[in-house]
Amino acid sequence: MNWTVNPLCDALGAKIEGFDFAASWSDEEQQKLKDLWLEHGLLLVRGENANPENQIRFSKLFGELEAHPLKTIRSGEFPELMELNSEDSRTNPVAVWDGEEWVGRLGWHKDLIYTGKPNRGAILRAVKLPEVDGQTGYADQAKAYAALSKEMKARIEDLKVMYRFEVNLYKMPFFDTSTYVAGPGAPQKPSDVGFPDFPDSRYPLVLEHPETGQKILNVCPMFVDRIDGLPKAESDALLTELVAHVIRPEFAYLHQWQEGDMILWDNWRYMHSAPGVKPGAKRLIHRTTILGDTILGESVPHPSPLPKGEGAH
Ligand SMILES: [Fe+2]
Repeated sequence: MNWTVNPLCDALGAKIEGFDFAASWSDEEQQKLKDLWLEHGLLLVRGENANPENQIRFSKLFGELEAHPLKTIRSGEFPELMELNSEDSRTNPVAVWDGEEWVGRLGWHKDLIYTGKPNRGAILRAVKLPEVDGQTGYADQAKAYAALSKEMKARIEDLKVMYRFEVNLYKMPFFDTSTYVAGPGAPQKPSDVGFPDFPDSRYPLVLEHPETGQKILNVCPMFVDRIDGLPKAESDALLTELVAHVIRPEFAYLHQWQEGDMILWDNWRYMHSAPGVKPGAKRLIHRTTILGDTILGESVPHPSPLPKGEGAH
């Protein structure tokens, strides 16, 4: 094994360096990589020969890959690769955050959490980077759970949390839009970004990781809607407290990319986010997605007709 393993930062993750993405990895190496992924849930892998073919080959070590349902952002040559391109205005509308224009900003979320079957994980590879900005954030919900008080753990143990799909940030009840002003291209309804209108999903609020048994505080600021069966005031107060907890900086890592870096994360355990780039900045990331093979939540119809019409300013 020619590669080394070190902590990614004080709090979380592992960093693999000296990796050859073109090598044929021994059974022992493959097992070590899978073990590291399960243990840490977040791996930065840095080395040589990072390219589309090798990203796909490397990704397949961790499970079956999923072609992204949105054909517009699928790579023409490699269906398993999704291209996240800051210059694509269809997927990167300009918005104002903190008084400045940004594209590609994403709040804390887990992919497909609004369905009952989130993907198992994903791998990003930095292809082209701007001089500044363009980082990716990762936050560990297992660490967030472990840091809760005994009282809070007992209180939430048997509760169920509801997620609701929404594309208009103003309509996400626990997402902070206090410094956000939507731009003209901001999506208003799921079909604006080529998505169906998903039913709600119900999950254990304390999710047990199907492979590690770890307990995960299953709360994301984006898409989380309510605690099942609690009066609204009580549900709102509890989710406000848990959302503030889960986004605390000590459970998070912000990655400053170098070209060729690959990051693999466990989407059952980690949230991710992106501060974005300034309009005109060139950032290209290639992504592969590892299929979710376990249903973690159940689909339930919306409790009432979805609000219609204009954005809720
Ligand atoms: Fe995402």
